[in-house]
Amino acid sequence: MRKIRVVVLISGNGSNLQALIDRQIAGTLPVSICAVISNRPNAYGLTRASTAGIATEVVNHQSYADRDSFDNRLIETIDSYKPDLIVLAGFMRILTPEFVRHYHGKLMNIHPSLLPDYRGLNTHQRAIAAGEKHHGATVHFVTVELDGGPLIVQARLPIDETEVAASLARKVQDIEHQIYPLAIKWYAEGRLKMQGDKAFLDGKPLDAPIDYAEVSNE
Ligand code: GRF
Repeated sequence: MRKIRVVVLISGNGSNLQALIDRQIAGTLPVSICAVISNRPNAYGLTRASTAGIATEVVNHQSYADRDSFDNRLIETIDSYKPDLIVLAGFMRILTPEFVRHYHGKLMNIHPSLLPDYRGLNTHQRAIAAGEKHHGATVHFVTVELDGGPLIVQARLPIDETEVAASLARKVQDIEHQIYPLAIKWYAEGRLKMQGDKAFLDGKPLDAPIDYAEVSNE
């Protein structure tokens, strides 16, 4: 099967990146991760990439006068690898509308909440404080709206009464490592597309995200 070329953008630990690397090595994800790019020089994900023999690049936002010049350099760096898909995996920079438009339909993100609830940061703490019964993670295509964009797949978890943010974050990360590779696999197989501002799976518009509980055997 044809492998798609993927560039992964990170800022930190890179556990989602690791989930992709592991599946690429196992041969269960038809992708070739051609580069990992970080805006932080000391991101541990860069070590994960090097260990796997994947090219790494640092585009340090602190070296650029403004967001536009940072994003332009990021675009040049990404495009030099000619990727089919750009995967945001814990990339902690807000991207310019020009950047997002440049990669329309080819830019995916994972967010630790049941979007559209709890956009932004500290989602675990906010969900617990609000007395939510469930939390989770969502993979979505990126549009100019922060943590907006068409939703692809979502996994829900119950919030236990004794739950604290750290324990919930760990559980959410575990399911992130399942749903992100799955969405990327669908994309690589040509089953998942973004047309206009809508996501389509197997030609059907996703009016609501796929519930991971229904597809976890894929
Ligand atoms: C994940 O929780 C993801 O949802 C969010 O950033 C975190 C990245 O974690 N966007 P890691 O660097 O993949 O371990």
